[in-house]
Amino acid sequence: MENFSRRDFIKTGTMATIGLGLLPGSARAAAESSETIRVGVIGTGNRGKSHVANLLTISGVEVVAVCDLFDSQASAAANMCVQAGRKKPAIYVKDALTYKQMLAKEKLDAVIIATYWDSHAPIAIEAMNNGTYPGIEVPAALTVENTWKLVETSEKTGIPCMMLENWSFRQDNLAALNMKRLNMFGDIVHCHCAHSHDCIDHWFFDSKTGDQKWPAEYLLKYNRDQYPTHAVGPIISWMDINRGDIFTEIYSSATASKGINAYFKREFGENHPNGKIKWKQGDIVTSLLKTKSGKTLVINYDMQLPRPYSNRWLLEGTKGVYDEEKASISLVTSPKYHEWEPWKPYEEKYNHKWWNADYSAQSHGGTDYVMLSQFIDAVKKKGPTPLDVYDSAVMTAIVELSGISIEKNAPVPFPDFTKGKWETNKPYFGMDLSL
Ligand SMILES: NC(=O)c1ccc[n+]([C@@H]2O[C@H](COP(=O)([O-])OP(=O)(O)OC[C@H]3O[C@@H](n4cnc5c(N)ncnc54)[C@H](O)[C@@H]3O)[C@@H](O)[C@H]2O)c1
Repeated sequence: MENFSRRDFIKTGTMATIGLGLLPGSARAAAESSETIRVGVIGTGNRGKSHVANLLTISGVEVVAVCDLFDSQASAAANMCVQAGRKKPAIYVKDALTYKQMLAKEKLDAVIIATYWDSHAPIAIEAMNNGTYPGIEVPAALTVENTWKLVETSEKTGIPCMMLENWSFRQDNLAALNMKRLNMFGDIVHCHCAHSHDCIDHWFFDSKTGDQKWPAEYLLKYNRDQYPTHAVGPIISWMDINRGDIFTEIYSSATASKGINAYFKREFGENHPNGKIKWKQGDIVTSLLKTKSGKTLVINYDMQLPRPYSNRWLLEGTKGVYDEEKASISLVTSPKYHEWEPWKPYEEKYNHKWWNADYSAQSHGGTDYVMLSQFIDAVKKKGPTPLDVYDSAVMTAIVELSGISIEKNAPVPFPDFTKGKWETNKPYFGMDLSL
């Protein structure tokens, strides 16, 4: 029954009919707890509202303020809280800088930032300067310069800064991390990953009219890996990046841009203006990254061709290989090590402690809940966030660096955001001491 009401709670989205008495256990505990932390949400569109829904199920959290460019969006998020039996959050809506008033006035413990890409870094910097933990949607910044500012502000203020890279928290990826830490793959040599997600007909453009949505502007202006973080999120821990190793260079290459024009001709006929525009963004970007200790990583951006979703994570070491797309594994310790074995039994056996319950009814199969509850836990303890500002920086910097490399048709150096601390930093993300 608990599971049933929890699932219903999430699925309603706006939670229109739910009062406090019907809340699932964790949410009711949060509503009644006296030890709550004050959380704000800036950017309450699709993703921001999904975060609000998850925050309402984490105990000890009160969403005290919401901010958006549009009253309809901010009010909808505030109403989700009211309909869940909570106090109505303060609503901040005026212009693109109104978040500054909210951060100054509300004395927030944490803020979730789910705005358009260009405002992520400035808002996070303002939050840290106000003593507030920022949980930033992906990517954390669009330029290497702003990425450095995030690092420097976190170091100066002492406030941890986490990009909300949810795929780092996936159950399968965390089980693979546990196995890597048990040395089951031996020395890690090579990884591959992709963000193959056809976003043309919902995220970049309106599927009914073909009108451009805000992310489409980036397809006109840039040719680069626009969205590397979901692909690379789990990999940085598998490869010990910033903690024993670092990326030293990135070399990116892009295909021609065919997919967007082909989509418009196919779905809207020959005359839709977007079918005739010369889009700068190539369909597939392939980046090769090298590390100091001699590992390689290949990342594919792939968001504008018709295809099913895939991340194609691959982890290869001296003792075996994990292939997420095949849902298979092969280890030298197995008697049949030249054959593929099914992955699922390994995922169950090496399940990560963060996945100790069935969260599958929540957004992205529970991964968002696991991520947010770990972030919130860090805020409550005033401790380090599971992904730190350096993790966030390496994932984020790929955006601009891949574009520079494509433009130059040459490898470009990868900055060391840790300024040498990678040599002594110990692994931190998802350390499972029960292993
Ligand atoms: N991690 C994931 O799985 C995932 C999934 C989808 C989107 N995202 C990320 O979430 C972010 C938002 O994407 P979305 O799809 O929700 O977009 P969206 O357009 O639905 O929502 C963005 C909202 O931010 C508001 N906004 C923009 N600038 C603002 C500012 N300066 N102050 C206050 N509000 C502002 C807009 O009015 C809008 O309502 C993006 O960074 C995107 O990359 C992440």
